[in-house]
Amino acid sequence: MAKLTIDGVEVEVPDGTTILNAARQIGGDLVPPAMCYYSTLKDTGGKCRVCLVKVAAGSAKDPRPMPKLVASCRTPVADGMVVQNLTSPEVLEARKGVVEFLLLNHPLDCPICDQAGECDLQNLAYEHGAAKTRYEEDRRTFEKIDIGDKIKLHMTRCILCYRCTFVGDQLTDKRVHGVLGRGDKSEISTFIQQNVDNDFSGNMIDVCPVGALTDKTFRFKSRVWFTKPLDAHRNCTKCSGKVVLWTKGDDVLRVSARKDQFGEVKDYICNECRFEHKNMSDWTVEGPRHIDRHSVIAQNHYEKIDLQKLKKEVERQLEFQKGKALPQPDNALNS
Ligand code: SF4
Ligand code: FES
Repeated sequence: MAKLTIDGVEVEVPDGTTILNAARQIGGDLVPPAMCYYSTLKDTGGKCRVCLVKVAAGSAKDPRPMPKLVASCRTPVADGMVVQNLTSPEVLEARKGVVEFLLLNHPLDCPICDQAGECDLQNLAYEHGAAKTRYEEDRRTFEKIDIGDKIKLHMTRCILCYRCTFVGDQLTDKRVHGVLGRGDKSEISTFIQQNVDNDFSGNMIDVCPVGALTDKTFRFKSRVWFTKPLDAHRNCTKCSGKVVLWTKGDDVLRVSARKDQFGEVKDYICNECRFEHKNMSDWTVEGPRHIDRHSVIAQNHYEKIDLQKLKKEVERQLEFQKGKALPQPDNALNS
C-alpha cells in the first residue's frame, strides 16, 4: 500500500494505482478532470493532458519534486508522494492552456450540438477556459459522415481522445474504424467506407466526451435538459439491460447506458436495447435517475424535495443578497 496526499488530503491506496484513481477514492473537487482516460476501457489515457498535476514530492525515499507536470491518469502513486491539483497555480494555468489547445479546432457550436449540457469539454471550458480565443487561423473542416446507420460523426468536434476506437477494439467483434493520418491531419474514420454495425458499437456514443459521435435516433429531438431521465431495465440476453431512458411525457427519446459520478459507463449496453426499444412498455421503470445537482440536466429535475431544506436554502440565498457570506449549500437539498 502507498500513502500519499493530494491537495493536502491523505489517502492510502494499493501500489500501482494511478494518481487519478487515488484522487477518485477521495472524491470531490480535487479529482482531476479526464477527457481520454476511461476506467472501463483498457489502455486509455495519456492523450488529452487535461489531468495534469504537480508532484511536489516524488516519494518518502526520494522527496524531490518531479521536474514537469505529469498526467495523473498514467502516473502511479508512491508512498510519501505529495500531489497538488487545485492547490497549484501552475496546474491551473497549464490546464487553461490545454483547454485552449483542445478548442483550437473545435467549433463553438454548443447551441446546436446534441451533447450540450452533458459535454466534458463544455464543462472544462466553463471551469478552466479563457473567455477569449487567441487563435486566428482557419479551423479544420470536415463533412459530417454516418458511421453505421445509427451514429453520426462530426469530425470537427472530435478531440482525438481515442476512446471510441478502444470501444471498437474491446467491445465489438470487428473494429472497422480508427484514427487515420498524423498530427493535425489525424481524423477518426471508417476503413474503406465500412459501416459500424456491431452489437456494442452504440457505446461509442456514450464514451465520446464531446458531441463528435451522436445518436442519429435522438439528434435534434430535444435539448437534454428538457428530458426526464429514468432508470429502467429489461431482460436482455446480450447485455445487462440496465439503462437510462431520456423521456418526454410517455415518449422515450433516447436510451443510454448508466454513467457513474465520473461520467463513465460501468455496464455497457447492446445496440438492441439502445436503438430498438423506444416504447415505455418495453421497460420496467425503476425511478428517476440521480443527476448531480450542479449539472444543467438537473434543471427542473427532482427526485424528492425536502421542504425544510428548501427553506434553509432560500434563507441562505437571501443572506447572500444582503451581502453576508454564503454558508455552505446543503448538498442533500434535492438529489
Ligand atoms: S469521436 Fe469522440 S470518442 Fe472518438 S476520438 Fe473523437 S472525441 Fe474521442
Ligand atoms: S485523462 Fe489523462 S491524459 Fe487524458
